[in-house]
Amino acid sequence: MSDPMKKAKTSGSNAGPNPNQWDRLVGEGAPLARSLAEDMKRLESIGDAKFKVPTKTRIIAVANQKGGVGKTTSAVNLAAALASGGLRVLVIDDDPQGNASTALGAERNEDTLGLYNVLTREVSFFEILQQSKKLPGLYIAPSSINLALVDVELVEAPDRSTRLRETLYPALEELAEQGERFDYVIIDCPPSMSLLPINALIAAHEVLIPVQTEYYALEGLTQLLRTIEGARDGWNAGLRVSTILLTMASKNTNLSAEVSENVRDFFPEETLSVEIPRSVRIAESPSYGETVITYAPRSSGAIAYLAAAHELADRAE
Ligand SMILES: Nc1ncnc2c1ncn2[C@@H]1O[C@H](COP(=O)(O)OP(=O)(O)OP(=O)(O)O)[C@@H](O)[C@H]1O
Ligand SMILES: [Mg+2]
Repeated sequence: MSDPMKKAKTSGSNAGPNPNQWDRLVGEGAPLARSLAEDMKRLESIGDAKFKVPTKTRIIAVANQKGGVGKTTSAVNLAAALASGGLRVLVIDDDPQGNASTALGAERNEDTLGLYNVLTREVSFFEILQQSKKLPGLYIAPSSINLALVDVELVEAPDRSTRLRETLYPALEELAEQGERFDYVIIDCPPSMSLLPINALIAAHEVLIPVQTEYYALEGLTQLLRTIEGARDGWNAGLRVSTILLTMASKNTNLSAEVSENVRDFFPEETLSVEIPRSVRIAESPSYGETVITYAPRSSGAIAYLAAAHELADRAE
């Protein structure tokens, strides 16, 4: 009879990878080794580099009417990355799902005031802002499900499309009079083309479109670009798509690489060179009310968002 302990020693989970397996995992060219080397290279290139401070507040709408492509994840993590570098950043949660509020650890109970109360002109922006407990330069204008009522309640209002701009701009001007300002205002849009994202596109200077590196990545983008054009023609002549960010990229699939190439062909100037990898740390950080930047700062997801934030900041005027 064979000795079960002997078997456990040679083939059990404690046996460790044999040299061949090891080489496949971390040898030159292996996926793990490649991604570690890439992280190291990114960290080196970021080094102690300070974020470029924009000459005026940059207001960026993070939009894509396609659901689940990484809008919220990108909005909160880019914001946190910029704030971790000493910039002052406001995230506006323009989505009744309230995911950005959750990810930034915002307090939300029955009495919490949110974007709904601002858009219905009950209170000013200052009354809803919450400061992040993790990053002092980061603020959130939270939202909850009542924001969905805006679509119905404002339908007759002549200024229904411009409410966000009309409430945000005076608040920013009031800050300026006190010699203060946000360097970035990042607006997290919902996956629709309702009044809420329209308001964001009219309030913003720029649009950042997260694109998931999957088969249907470019589907629906034409509609989004048309809506952006509509916002530009009607109300916001300066609006431009400044940034495309590839999200949930996988180094190990041809599809991911093909989609990335395709998007880069369409948007050569706009697409950031950094791609955000699929990462467990990114996915689990919201459940702790944190961004990956504070939850797992050395993880490849955090490093990628930090590098993307640097690229975004370098493009400021
Ligand atoms: N790089 C990533 N790696 C792993 N998971 C990710 C990554 N980016 C996003 N996710 C996960 O994918 C899901 C969708 O992401 P997210 O909520 O950011 O998309 P969204 O575009 O804001 O969605 P919605 O359209 O519903 O607002 C979430 O569960 C998120 O945690
Ligand atoms: Mg979202």
